[in-house]
Amino acid sequence: MKHLIDAKELSPEYVERLIASAEDIISAPGSYSDRCRGRILATLFYEPSTRTRLSFESAMLGLGGQTLGFSSADSSSASKGESVADTIRMVSCYADICAMRHPKEGSALVASMHSGIPVINAGDGGHQHPTQTLTDLMTIHSVKKKLDGLSVGLCGDLRFGRTVHSLIHALSKHKNNSFILVSPDELKIPDYLREEMIKGGVRFTETEDLKQSIKEMDVIYMTRVQKERFFNEEDYVRLKDSYILNRQKLSQAKKDLAVMHPLPRVNEISTEVDDDPRSVYFDQARYGRFVRMALILDLLS
Ligand code: CP
Repeated sequence: MKHLIDAKELSPEYVERLIASAEDIISAPGSYSDRCRGRILATLFYEPSTRTRLSFESAMLGLGGQTLGFSSADSSSASKGESVADTIRMVSCYADICAMRHPKEGSALVASMHSGIPVINAGDGGHQHPTQTLTDLMTIHSVKKKLDGLSVGLCGDLRFGRTVHSLIHALSKHKNNSFILVSPDELKIPDYLREEMIKGGVRFTETEDLKQSIKEMDVIYMTRVQKERFFNEEDYVRLKDSYILNRQKLSQAKKDLAVMHPLPRVNEISTEVDDDPRSVYFDQARYGRFVRMALILDLLS
């Protein structure tokens, strides 16, 4: 049984294969429109989502399959106290594959241990979001024509931002990438991740200064401060607008910088940047549907 739980599972060869498959789907969608006829995708979302849930559903529909699921814990029997393990046992009777988002770190792993169907981690707390990483990698590949030898800036909430953790894991597997980690002290990457990076010989620097460090970047990945993971409103309000990428800051950057954001954004990227040709965050969201189609096909094969 194949699952996708952690971005550490995304080897360069596997990523290359999924991107090639997603590109083929984009170029000839009609030849994929029946590939999942009779198959069902369950979307088990215990946390809010727009892009991930809808792109998964759109992906399965585009493959000729069907979908079922829930979009909040309140509308499932989790509200009566049912465990993730029991829920996935039930869902395994009704669907062929599932995508799960849950506020607790490790929930998707627990689900995979009790599941009779492939489980895809669609975000587990502040831990990982490997399918966002697939769409991020496809975006970088489309713009840079490579996934190695890049200086990648990650800016904002690096502590709770699960997309950041997954992207670092995946890009570290490609040769000669380095990371510039831009955040306030309280929102630095978690210690376990820093230790893994040091142990793995990953090149990175940590700074609070976006204005200076943006000059060195080939890619900048802005992130939202994750309000839902804060223990008190006061800290969130103090930190939420730590970094706002605007035209003035972008004027200091490389001419071929790729400006990315997993979305949703709040204030991290000024809307005046949307028309800059270097902004690729809406393309990033669009690629999500196709790379998830490629993933579903692979996990069901
Ligand atoms: N990028 C992302 O995970 O967006 P959603 O929360 O809308 O799914």
